[in-house]
Amino acid sequence: MAKESRMVENKMEKAKKQKEVMITGEEEIYQRRFEKYHDELRWLYMELYQNGSMFSELCDKMKQFYLERNRELKDLDFQREACSDWYKQNDLLGMMFYIDNFAKNLKGVEEKLGYIEQCSVNYIHLMPFLETPEGRSDGGYAVSDFRKVQEKLGTMEDLESLTAACHKKGINVCMDFVMNHTSEDHEWAQRARKGEGEYMSRYFFFDNSYIPSLYEKTVPQVFPTTAPGNFTWIEDAKHFVMTTFYPYQWDLNYKNPRVFNEMLYNFLYLANRGIDIIRIDAVPYIWKELNTPCRNLPQVHTIVRMMRIISEIVCPSVLLLGEVVMEPEKVVPYFGTVEKPECHMLYNVTTMATTWHTVATRDVRLLKKQLDIVNALPKEYVFLNYLRCHDDIGWGLDYQTLKMEGIEERAHKKYLNDYFQGYAGESNSRGELYNSDPVTGDARFCGTTASMCGIEKAGFEQNDAAMEKAIRFDIMLHAYMFMQSGIPVLYSGDEIGQVNDYTYKENPNKAADSRYIHRGAMNWELAKNSSDLKTVEGKLFLGLKQLEEIRKSEKVFVSYADTWTIETWDASILCIGRYWEGEKLIGIFNFSETDKTAWINETDGEYIDLISKREMKASGVDIPAYGFYYLKKKSVD
Ligand code: GLC
Repeated sequence: MAKESRMVENKMEKAKKQKEVMITGEEEIYQRRFEKYHDELRWLYMELYQNGSMFSELCDKMKQFYLERNRELKDLDFQREACSDWYKQNDLLGMMFYIDNFAKNLKGVEEKLGYIEQCSVNYIHLMPFLETPEGRSDGGYAVSDFRKVQEKLGTMEDLESLTAACHKKGINVCMDFVMNHTSEDHEWAQRARKGEGEYMSRYFFFDNSYIPSLYEKTVPQVFPTTAPGNFTWIEDAKHFVMTTFYPYQWDLNYKNPRVFNEMLYNFLYLANRGIDIIRIDAVPYIWKELNTPCRNLPQVHTIVRMMRIISEIVCPSVLLLGEVVMEPEKVVPYFGTVEKPECHMLYNVTTMATTWHTVATRDVRLLKKQLDIVNALPKEYVFLNYLRCHDDIGWGLDYQTLKMEGIEERAHKKYLNDYFQGYAGESNSRGELYNSDPVTGDARFCGTTASMCGIEKAGFEQNDAAMEKAIRFDIMLHAYMFMQSGIPVLYSGDEIGQVNDYTYKENPNKAADSRYIHRGAMNWELAKNSSDLKTVEGKLFLGLKQLEEIRKSEKVFVSYADTWTIETWDASILCIGRYWEGEKLIGIFNFSETDKTAWINETDGEYIDLISKREMKASGVDIPAYGFYYLKKKSVD
């Protein structure tokens, strides 16, 4: 007996020792990271806040969140730290969806991981799922509790179970961190509304309209029609509060270090639930100064850099994805510098908008110029490429260049909007305007990829020939998108060609926001056709699958590859080259509804089209309407 209990004791002693060793190891790891960044973090924090005690509170909390981080996540941190380019390869493919639309709730998503794998997707963006008031949610972007999942979607435990299940399958999970504002129902907002000074100082409150009116002089409007102005009068508080987005989304005041600290604790809390990619929502807006546009101010970069440092210390496996929907010169600074990086990834928003301009004009010149700009950027920069997301498409194009062609901004935006609504030009698109501003004449556009490519119209008209064309067009656009360096992201449903959903108009909580037209529920009945080549869904699904497989198996798709455009001497044909370690690929894409010849002249050898497996020459290439080729140079040996 005594012997046995001694053995147990010894075992326990050994385990305890092992744990201690592990803990010391963990502490050392933390210390190493902390020391590496401490001086810079302190410097930046003091520059903004001059508050030593809040800084030490932040440091204590960081350590606490690190200690609370589970073993699996710490292992992932360790692995990814050792291979910091893990997300710059050619193997990531994203898909974004609203949890309820996709699978009712978090548990449902876990059950659908098999489908996600079938789609070759290994990065899922769960659209906002934190507590938000029904009817005043802005699609979940008005968060009332950063530590609670919406009841209808599940619990934090469900989220942890999902992220763990995803990690087992090598799937990364992305979520939004809506840091610019809280919902008016958030505890802070409620207390501020009651007049508690401590909480009022976390927002921008004004007891009369004078200062707000000064801000209005320089701050543009985000939702000019659905939510005009940047301030809202709060009757019970007898104050104005700053609301850049909807009146129920109160802008947080990051001049208050309590706001920064608490929001960062929320960030780390969420990271510890197993999130791999944190999308920093509306990041350009987070710092406000009078007499400025309140966008992209230098302090925003200080904050993002601090967030990067904090995650490098506590949870280095986590990637920051910045939502910067701005012109290219405003976007790129969010990568920071090579020595002092900020975001890991940014949306390739101008390329996305320019793609649709190309669709409407059948003229690839502006797109070619845009791709040349992106191709010339440092290879460390990783872009998220997409054809559309949950938001509208804003026509942020290079109007200076278009002006040289005699194209004027206002008239062109109107043309694009008319075109995609199906009113102008040879258009087969369907969709709706978003926030049409009578003052500036500006409007954005909403629609699913399939509807914009003509699948909705062809289906409605039961026109088989038009349907074939529309499907070809849709696949061609994806093939072109996959040729770009970075990470392609699909919007769920696009893989089976889901069209616009007009039912949002019947829901009073959604009717005023046309973005819901392209946020419809996943149609699982149609998804059953995904392996049937006789159906629209099957043709698209299998067409995209082939592209996904090629992209993952060909090293030339890595982010570091050389990428360039090639003149084709035809305004409708885009040609992109990629080169990596002796391998070369030429992508040719016909953006018009006529058969064409691409007058390229790559005489350096034989090529093989990776789609049809046909041997081809990469010179004077005949290309059918909306067709494309992935021509890979045959190796000499
Ligand atoms: C981002 C989201 C958008 C939301 C806005 C306000 O731009 O993508 O959907 O309306 O932020 O949070």
